[in-house]
Formats: sequence, C-alpha cells, structure tokens
Amino acid sequence: HELQMNLEQIEKGGFDHFMLKEIYEQPNAISDTFRGRMLPEKGIIRMAGVDNNIERISNAKRIIIVACGTSWHAGLVAEYIFEELARIPVEVEYASEFRYRNPIISEKDVVIAISQSGETADTMAAIQLAREKGAFVFGVCNVVGSSISRETHAGAYTHAGPEIGVASTKAFTTQITVLTLMALKLAKHMGTISNSDFQMHLQELERIPDKVQKALNSDEHIRKIADIYKDATNCLYLGRGFNFPVALEGALKLKEISYIHAEGYPAAEMKHGPIALIDEQMPVVVIATRKGYYEKVVSNIQEIKSRKGKIIAIVTDGDTEVRELADHVIEVPETMESMSPLLTTIPLQLLSYHIAVMLGKNVDQPRNLAKSVTVE
Ligand code: G6P
Repeated sequence: HELQMNLEQIEKGGFDHFMLKEIYEQPNAISDTFRGRMLPEKGIIRMAGVDNNIERISNAKRIIIVACGTSWHAGLVAEYIFEELARIPVEVEYASEFRYRNPIISEKDVVIAISQSGETADTMAAIQLAREKGAFVFGVCNVVGSSISRETHAGAYTHAGPEIGVASTKAFTTQITVLTLMALKLAKHMGTISNSDFQMHLQELERIPDKVQKALNSDEHIRKIADIYKDATNCLYLGRGFNFPVALEGALKLKEISYIHAEGYPAAEMKHGPIALIDEQMPVVVIATRKGYYEKVVSNIQEIKSRKGKIIAIVTDGDTEVRELADHVIEVPETMESMSPLLTTIPLQLLSYHIAVMLGKNVDQPRNLAKSVTVE
C-alpha cells in the first residue's frame, strides 16, 4: 500500500492532485497539440485527417458537433470558431439527445465527435447513427486507439497526454486548439480568410502557451479569492460570444468538484431569470475581456452591482474600467477574441480547484462521477 502511495506521488509530479498537475500542463499540452501541424514560416497547417478529406469536409452544408460534458463545451466554442473563420453553419448537440431524436442528417453533413476518452457510450451511439445516415464522421479524441477514434472516418488527436483527474482540464483546451487548427485550415482552403489574417492567427496561436503560463501565475491570487467564496451555496458564471461556453465550463468545474450549485449563462440572458437570484451573498463570475462585446458585459456588471452581487471578473491585463466595478479582478493576457477561451478558462479551473480543496472534497475523484461514461 505504501509503495502504491509513493508511486502515485511520483505520477503527480510534485502536485497535490492530478487535476492541478493537468491544469499546469496546459502550456505544454497546447504546444504538443499544434507541434508539427502548424508551420507558420510556410504558412500552412498540416493535419492528415483533414488533408485527406479536404473536399468532403469543406463542401459540408453543415457541421454537426456531438459530444458530452466538457467536450460538448469545447464543441460550443468550436461553433463560434468555425462559423467565424470558415463560414460553415454549425450545430452542437448533446450526443444523448441527438441519438434518440431521429435527427435530420444527410450525406452532405459532416459530423464531428469530440471525446477525451473516446469511449463515451452516447457519443459512440451518435457516431453510429450518423454513419448509417451517410454522414462523414470526424473524431477529435485524446486517447489514441480508443473506440471512437476507430469508428470515425478520419480524425485528429489532441495529444494532451493522459488525463487522470475526473474533471477535464487540459483535454478541453487542447480540443479547442485542434478545432481552431481545423477551422483555420478549412478557412484557408475555402478562401474565407485572407492570407495575412491566416498568418496572424498562426502567429498568435504560437504565443498561446506562454500566455497560458502567464494566466497560471495568478494562482495564489485566485486561491485568496477562493478562500473568500468557498462557503457560497450558489454561484453564477456569465460570458458572451466565444466566452459564453467558457462560462458554462467554469460552472461545470465548480459543480463537479466542490458540489456548489453553479450555473453558466450568456451574460445578456441573465435578465431573463438568474438576476432574480442575485443578492449580497451571491458570487457572480463574469468573463469581461476587452474584445468581444466588452461594453455590453460592463453594463451587465453594473446590473449585478446595483443588486449588490459579489463580482469576480476575468479581465484583460491592464483593464481599469471593470476593476472599478468588480470586487475582484483576475487578469489574463490580451489575445484574439477567438483564442480567448484558451486563456479565460484557466482562472476558472484554478478557482474551482482551490474551493474544492478548501472544502476537503476529493478533487480527483468526485462523488458520483466517472472519468468516462461507457454505459448509458
Ligand atoms: C464524463 C467526465 C467528463 C467528460 C464527459 C465526456 O462525464 O466526467 O469530464 O467531459 O464524461 O467525456 P469524453 O471522454 O467523451 O470527453
């Protein structure tokens, strides 16, 4: 037993939990994901699974993304990215709903299945259904040789390395990275992006691992914020545009490991319900980075403030406007709007991690949850 404990200690590489180790691995995991695929000096992206099927994919009338849990959130981010860059209409579906809905799918559709484990039963069933209806199915998996990676027509691995913590972290950011590469590649092929814009995206993606590293430097500051709010019973997460799915993911992380009830919402939708919950006790985490409806989010923050909610804002480095309104700000480096989820996610992962640790919860193996759900 002692030997086993020591082994686990070694596997955690000096971190207290796998989740924290995996959060800190993200700069490397993201560069492992684009290494060898992205060649900025040549101005190309190489992805065998896309290259070999480029006509089939770029002629898609529609892309349907199927996934569960955190992978579904990565799919929602990808919806914004694909539509913005490649101008292909995208729908994102919970695999469990899709499979039982007699969905309308044709041979002109491309289905992208996202799954860290590659073993999720509902996602697997959704793929089989899509295949039967003649769609082309592309997999985005982390586990090499997994069932989903074998059942799809083509795919791209995330190369995040093993993810042990039940709450998904590095799988999420690397899924977004792969899907960004794919969208950029399609955009270039289809001519929906200019060469200079394409080049700018590649250069910025190359800088993301360093920027994630900078975001991780707020860890101690985030731990102090966690200490203030750890006894909250409810928490609201708000974001808009590319960062709306990040709000959902932030709320999911808190629920999963700290068992605090949390909801993610598009910031503007708050006035249609969740605003009723806001009082002096209620922490509201708002993603308010400078690009992407900044002024709109600022006015949402004012609405929360006038109802005395406690505001924890994720802002761009050097922001002053939100700082004046919020109770706490957590800074992330500036980046392109489409890549901001890769940075804004980091403080939310750390916030939920620290709260769960302070509450004495089993961070790596939360109650009732499994790393991969292979039964219905
Ligand atoms: C489970 C895990 C989640 C994961 C989801 C989908 O619920 O606890 O962390 O996001 O399954 O898993 P997949 O392996 O398909 O990405």
